[in-house]
Amino acid sequence: MSNALTVAVCNQKGGVGKTTSTGHLARAAHVLGLAVLVVDLDPQGNITSALSADDLGDTIGVADALAPNAEYALADVLVPSIWDGVTLAPTPITEALADAGTQVESQRFGREHRFTHVLRPVLSAYDVVLVDTTPALGLLLTNALVAAEQALIVSQPEQWSADGLNELHNTIDLVAAYHNPKLTAVGPLINGKRKSQHHDRVLTEDISPYYGDQAWTSPDEVIPLWAPISDYLLAGIGLDEAKETRLRHVASVYGRFVERMLTTGGRR
Ligand SMILES: Nc1ncnc2c1ncn2[C@@H]1O[C@H](COP(=O)(O)OP(=O)(O)OP(=O)(O)O)[C@@H](O)[C@H]1O
Ligand SMILES: [Mg+2]
Repeated sequence: MSNALTVAVCNQKGGVGKTTSTGHLARAAHVLGLAVLVVDLDPQGNITSALSADDLGDTIGVADALAPNAEYALADVLVPSIWDGVTLAPTPITEALADAGTQVESQRFGREHRFTHVLRPVLSAYDVVLVDTTPALGLLLTNALVAAEQALIVSQPEQWSADGLNELHNTIDLVAAYHNPKLTAVGPLINGKRKSQHHDRVLTEDISPYYGDQAWTSPDEVIPLWAPISDYLLAGIGLDEAKETRLRHVASVYGRFVERMLTTGGRR
């Protein structure tokens, strides 16, 4: 079995939909029959709350494997998610991951590669690993990008979101140059699109040019701003299970994103 395609779902901007996208992409990959690991590399622990099958309380999590001299391997901290075939590397205690990040930062060697080292032993068990990342250009994001083959950029079609893309692409380019030549930026996964001239203009003029022909920005492949998209995830229900045709259509768009990631990553 080949190693999982590892995708860091990223944007240093807060609240653009990284966690929402990670959850729905995990579901879409599961519906496609793939074995999925979701890693919560954000101290906020949002994807853990969304996907964990059980109330984890203050049990062990990613931090306990990530910290230097950790007693646990990543395999020891994995828990089931609400969906069969989707496994979760959780962050149940938010301070613990921030602390582990600080400890990794203080190491003399291997700071940027710590997560790659921790993730490697479990890769052969999965087809896809989705890493939900934190809204900051810090060492935790760098660790996710060093471990990933793809940086999936989630962006809202808003000016302030477009303005941050330059810095994010610079970071991805620097990680590729210094640490991980396999890293490719994919997307953008446009989340929260409204029918508005402003959104259309930002998409066409400020976001798509970063991605040229490869931009995932055609009108039938952007995720709309629509409360049920987050409500379903919070309720643990797949959009593919919705009664409304429009929501099932959104589920199929996430499925197409997964297919694109697999094709770009040479897995299809
Ligand atoms: N397409 C959407 N339609 C409506 N609401 C959405 C949509 N996507 C996300 N939301 C809501 O917007 C908020 C931010 O989304 P989310 O937490 O996924 O962003 P994030 O980028 O992960 O945030 P952070 O940077 O804090 O990690 C949440 O309340 C979420 O439920
Ligand atoms: Mg988030």
